[in-house]
Amino acid sequence: MSTEPCPLIIAIDGPAGAGKSTVAARLASRFGLLNLETGAMYRAFALKALEQHIEPTNGAALEQLAASTNIRLEPTPSGNRVLLDDIDVTARIRQPDVTQAASQVSVHPAIRRWMVDLQRELGAGGGIVMEGRDIGTVVFPHADIKVFLDASPEARSERRYAQAGGAGSQEAILREIRERDERDRTRAQSPLKPAPDAVVIDSTNLTLDQVVARIESLVTARLDAHHGHASHVDASSAPREG
Ligand code: DC
Repeated sequence: MSTEPCPLIIAIDGPAGAGKSTVAARLASRFGLLNLETGAMYRAFALKALEQHIEPTNGAALEQLAASTNIRLEPTPSGNRVLLDDIDVTARIRQPDVTQAASQVSVHPAIRRWMVDLQRELGAGGGIVMEGRDIGTVVFPHADIKVFLDASPEARSERRYAQAGGAGSQEAILREIRERDERDRTRAQSPLKPAPDAVVIDSTNLTLDQVVARIESLVTARLDAHHGHASHVDASSAPREG
């Protein structure tokens, strides 16, 4: 019998650098949820393709590679530990070559189907914050709470530049963000876009604390509804689908 106090599924989607990881980690710790970073899974697979010298544009070869690839996420208080065929690749997948390749391998429909199946398995028990690009639209369209976290490309590149301690050039980061946005938003299968019932938060002029507080209030309302209130709490004021 389950003693799980909080079987919620929270989906956080949005473009690169919008603050999803930090926000998801804060929510996970506040509500005792597992934090699952789906981008890390695409990154791990992209790393394997790079290591095997498979072009990230070669869909057939990638599909074959996926059949013999094992990717695991182990949520820890300081982020996800990422295992590629049982090897810890947590740090390596944050390098720029992998970032670029991850965006490219993620356009292939067969790769996405494989990843979505894995992600559904990981989240099946609930009690999770899952972040990515298509969690509220494709992976868990019935998620309890869906947030689409956005920010202007300039704000996102500024944050990334600050995170890197001023290393590199902010213009180069901005260029890379625009390029990834374009690819993520225009791909044919499950492009990056808010679910019709997602709460869209533009964090360009908000602090991290303000973003977290806003989502916390959505979660708290939802939990109150779970814990015995007969009335249904609608987390969003967005119109219903259809
Ligand atoms: O969030 P991230 O930067 O770690 O993601 C790396 C790439 O993976 C990103 O360019 C798009 C892709 N991705 C995706 O297509 N769907 C997801 N659910 C998560 C990431």
